[in-house]
Amino acid sequence: MSKTIIITGGAGFIGSHVVRLFVNKYPEYKIINLDALTYAGNLENLKDVEDKPNYVFEKADIINKDEVSSAFKKYNPDGIIHLAAESHVDRSIHSPLDFVYTNVIGTVNLLNASKELWEGNFEGKRFYHVSTDEVYGALGAEGLFTEETPYSPNSPYSASKASSDHFVRAYGETYHLPFIISNCSNNYGPNHFPEKLIPLFINNIIEKKPLPVYGDGKYTRDWLFVKDHATAIDLVFHRGKEGETYNIGGFNEWQNIDLVKLLVKKMDEKLGNPEGASEPLITFVKDRPGHDLRYAIDATKINKELGWYPSVTFEEGLAKTIDWFFENKEWLKNVTSGEYQTYYEKQYSN
Ligand code: NAD
Ligand code: DAU
Repeated sequence: MSKTIIITGGAGFIGSHVVRLFVNKYPEYKIINLDALTYAGNLENLKDVEDKPNYVFEKADIINKDEVSSAFKKYNPDGIIHLAAESHVDRSIHSPLDFVYTNVIGTVNLLNASKELWEGNFEGKRFYHVSTDEVYGALGAEGLFTEETPYSPNSPYSASKASSDHFVRAYGETYHLPFIISNCSNNYGPNHFPEKLIPLFINNIIEKKPLPVYGDGKYTRDWLFVKDHATAIDLVFHRGKEGETYNIGGFNEWQNIDLVKLLVKKMDEKLGNPEGASEPLITFVKDRPGHDLRYAIDATKINKELGWYPSVTFEEGLAKTIDWFFENKEWLKNVTSGEYQTYYEKQYSN
């Protein structure tokens, strides 16, 4: 079976792992990486696949409907895997509209282009929207997010993702667009942009800079190694049921402060420092506004229906992640120059 798939946001963190998996695993497919190359997109992430005959990069901004529709006409895809987004909660607090443009309007532009291209023949077509567990809001000390948990987003980022999820579902109901959605917990791993907790703290430990823990550090996240998310996306895209949602999670909850202490320990080992050497870098700073206390996913459905379960333990995943950042210091240097410095200053100056 041959397929043409547009993967949006393929130059970003998760998208690059999805592109790599699909390009290598499905040589008979044509994979188009459609990405605007914002601050978070980097073609260096895909150096190892850029010369493969089944891979194409298309620079396009999903906010621009003409760019989207001409890419759709050019490639005539049967599948869309949509990951392009503004993805950082703290940036959404500074600039909510950027999140509305890309995450909401961008998604609707993709839905319209798919509808126009496929109208009258939806057979074998699929619009796969990759979303987040943050749409469900915050949990207390107990409980897990299931596919039935009501949406209750608290940040401009999660509100924009929730809105995009609703649009995708509405296009299914109204126009019969064949869609599928997954909502995943926090990813970590190689190529993670160093504005997010784990790669930011790896970089700051290397640079002996403060590790800014928000509030009391008692916030909890459910961490999943990025390659396990890519494997789940492959399964959901090929074998998930049309019109359904699948929750994806790591079965791996950590309070931020415990995770940070573990990371400091592993980094000191890697750097050959005495035990505890980097602990004094831990600095409690003012809290994130609207900070969600806890996220945790019940991934029973994808496990039971599609047989998916994370393959990498947190210990292994963290070790692989740290190794990758040490082996890719040039990458880290490049992405932390320029715009990153302005953002860092704005976010952490008081
Ligand atoms: P990222 O910020 O690392 O990458 C986003 C990519 O989208 C970049 O390559 C960027 O250039 C591209 N992009 C942004 N705006 C665009 C636009 N207007 N037009 C075209 N391309 C544009 O994001 P990520 O962390 O890899 O997340 C990917 C997707 O997965 C997002 O939809 C996010 O909501 C979702 N998600 C992320 C996580 C996580 O922990 N990172 C967890 C669950 C779900
Ligand atoms: O849950 C899935 C979501 O996970 C994705 O949808 C988002 O795209 C992704 O960015 C991530 O969101 P979080 O806000 O949970 O991730 P972040 O790495 O920004 O923060 C993780 C936790 O660490 C959170 O409780 C805030 C805290 N934190 C974060 C930063 C950047 C700090 O304490 N200090 C920091 O400097």
